Amino acid sequence: MNKTYSLRRLCNLHEHLIKQHRVIRYKSNTSNELNSFVLYDKFICERRSQSKCSVLVQVSSENSCSDLHSYCSKFGSIKNIFHYQLAGSNHFVLTEFEDQSSVNSLLDQSTHIKDSNVIAVRSPFLWFRSNASKKNSKLSVIDNKFNFPFQANQTMIEPNIKDIGLNKLDSLSNQMLLLLKCTQLNDIGTRLRFLTAMQIENALKGIFPLSKVLPFGSSVNSFGKIGSDIDLVIMDSQTTENETSRLIYHGKCVSNSRTQTQRNIEILGDLLQLFLPGCSRVKRISQARVPIVKYSQDFIGVECDLAVSNETAVNMSELLYIFGNFDYRVRPLVFTVKMWAKEINLTNDTPGRWITNFSLTLLVLFYLQQEKIIPDIQTLVKQARNNDVRITNEGINCTFLRDASKLHRVVENKKTLDQLLLGFFEYFASFDFNTNAISLNFGKTINKPEYSALYIVNPLEVHFNVSKNISSEEVERFRIELRNAAWTIDSSLMNTNSFNLLDLFKGFDVNKKSQIVFDIQHQIKNSNRLVTVKDLFDDDSQTQEDTRLNKQLK
Ligand code: GTP
Ligand code: MG
Repeated sequence: MNKTYSLRRLCNLHEHLIKQHRVIRYKSNTSNELNSFVLYDKFICERRSQSKCSVLVQVSSENSCSDLHSYCSKFGSIKNIFHYQLAGSNHFVLTEFEDQSSVNSLLDQSTHIKDSNVIAVRSPFLWFRSNASKKNSKLSVIDNKFNFPFQANQTMIEPNIKDIGLNKLDSLSNQMLLLLKCTQLNDIGTRLRFLTAMQIENALKGIFPLSKVLPFGSSVNSFGKIGSDIDLVIMDSQTTENETSRLIYHGKCVSNSRTQTQRNIEILGDLLQLFLPGCSRVKRISQARVPIVKYSQDFIGVECDLAVSNETAVNMSELLYIFGNFDYRVRPLVFTVKMWAKEINLTNDTPGRWITNFSLTLLVLFYLQQEKIIPDIQTLVKQARNNDVRITNEGINCTFLRDASKLHRVVENKKTLDQLLLGFFEYFASFDFNTNAISLNFGKTINKPEYSALYIVNPLEVHFNVSKNISSEEVERFRIELRNAAWTIDSSLMNTNSFNLLDLFKGFDVNKKSQIVFDIQHQIKNSNRLVTVKDLFDDDSQTQEDTRLNKQLK
């Protein structure tokens, strides 16, 4: 679905966000009034409740919505109905009831097609068969009224960024806001992600009633895109041990927890593959550092990664969620940088020696810490209250202030999004990756504790580097692209006072790229040290080279 926005509408949105931001700034320290901020736990809890009240029904076409609404209404009051169509011709209707008991009675009344080879499963994924005896007159009455809360206009398919109207907006800041608006995970996408988690939770409930399945990563950390993968984790639903209870469940003694995790993954893989509807292309990745089952949920049209226990990653999602909601500029900046990296192939969906979206997000957050727009993690740790204390089963301390509205906030930095985008590229284009490690905990660089081409201290497990996978070639490519991006924006703003975000996503001209790579290789060869991008910026001959390339490009 294509959306276009008038400049006026975009400006209103921008102004609204700026106003909101001002409210935050001036209401400062007592501010329970960080009004738009919803606590992560509350957000997760509400979305889980919503998924418990919902079913996803496959229908033959959009025209069946009325019929389905009428049928489902027999089981209770319906709160919301969403229709969407996946690539191909499959139509789905997500129906949310006011009450969970309605879902239970609907599922009690639902049936399955007899097949001796298949063990029947009860899940929130159903299909609606046509009613041969249906009277047309009855249906048409409902069609005429059409008064149920039917929600359309939300896409499940990631829009092509060339079609969202970026080139209709002059201001780069507005383009960044439009990019966010059109590509961020929407309400229906979030609902379906929680329903996907609930399908696994329900399937395991019989044997593991103490477990819950939670989405983590970009599905919930506020940086998710329509179509990003769903990261799921099976967790203990009991958050703290009940120390007053004298009766304790017997458990299995496990000699090697990694082997056990790997076996759990194998079994879960079988369960998904053999029994759970919609789960296809199941792969058990049991040798990975965090063993997972990868699968595709065909009713939702997204890829899923299911882990057995990864409590730290859930806490990491909350930390990123807090930052994502801290200031109105954080999310558009992260989205633009992630989109830039995707479009110029710095990131890749398959894991490898390149930079990941997670590392990129941390780099943007680190830059915003330098700009004093968001706090360092130490500040959040120091301000933590009793109910913020979280120690994971693996003993990792994930204690930090959860309610960011309690933080004394004096954000003096009034830079606009376009200034920050350019600032990000310039900051890292001249960053000394050779000696510096990036610590979001302190909000500053520290000396690298060990050699790695890119070193970003894991904010929750500070002895680990989250970007250990990245090769020096990829860091070099990253630097070149940063420098090119800074130059592209800077020169365009200087010459025309406007910038088309799509130009940024074109990346390097191949000829120019090979020329600069050649230059760098040449300089490295002729010196005993690695040439930094800063050297290239400072070098007169390089400036001349830039001028020559600028001319060529023009
Ligand atoms: P996209 O899926 O690309 O939209 O972003 P994502 O943040 O969900 O990334 P991904 O699916 O790769 O990872 C999911 C979550 O796992 C991240 O948000 C992190 O919390 C965590 N994670 C990913 N990569 C690493 C890593 O290298 N180290 C650590 N400690 N955690 C990671
Ligand atoms: Mg993810």
